[in-house]
Amino acid sequence: MSSSRLPIVVLISGSGSNLQAILDAAARGELPVEVRAVISNRPDAKGLARAQQAGIPTVVVDHTAFASRQDYDRALMAQIDRFAPKLVVLAGFMRLLTDEFTSHYAGRMLNIHPSLLPAYKGLHTHRRALEDGAGEHGASVHFVTAELDGGPVIVQARVPVHPGDTPERLAERVLEQEHRIYPQAIRWFAEGRLRLGEDGRAWLDGRPLNAPVQVDADSPSDAPPG
Ligand code: GAR
Repeated sequence: MSSSRLPIVVLISGSGSNLQAILDAAARGELPVEVRAVISNRPDAKGLARAQQAGIPTVVVDHTAFASRQDYDRALMAQIDRFAPKLVVLAGFMRLLTDEFTSHYAGRMLNIHPSLLPAYKGLHTHRRALEDGAGEHGASVHFVTAELDGGPVIVQARVPVHPGDTPERLAERVLEQEHRIYPQAIRWFAEGRLRLGEDGRAWLDGRPLNAPVQVDADSPSDAPPG
């Protein structure tokens, strides 16, 4: 059974609710992955306990112990590669990455970001969307490239902004959608349906995506467009 599952390593910095969604989908048999390790840059990341609960090895590579970003990323790469993952999954991993790191995992690293990219790259996305009076917000899964939050987007979930929303309330509704679309994108990759093309675009089912697959907050279907 494990031979047909894609080995992955998940990187976290905090709560790990996306990690939990991945673990739950895998446990339900809906996601053919084997989570070989969970790695955190923070020793106090709550997600580490989620991994331990699921019997998954955890590693902490504490960024405060390294003099430079380059030293840190090299140490992190060494830890990741011990587990020989076919895919590296960034799940709330709150670090800027060196070009060396992103090119080492080119085409085999995904990230989830809490905005409808290319809008609101970086931090405080929910607050910024509310400040702008945005009518909708959401989350995006993308391949990681050297450009921060700039790699080709695979799938997005759109979430309407409600009157009186606070950043916290909006974040909560976006997070619910993250838990749907991240396992979905990882499943496509694990099934060999998704790849990063040499043209720099995401390819799904043998075709380049001219636009990300869109999932509405209230739509039951996760099917890609025909
Ligand atoms: C998620 O909202 C994720 O999209 C975001 O951090 C949160 C982690 O939550 N990631 C980023 O902002 C990356 N730029 P989690 O630890 O509960 O999965």
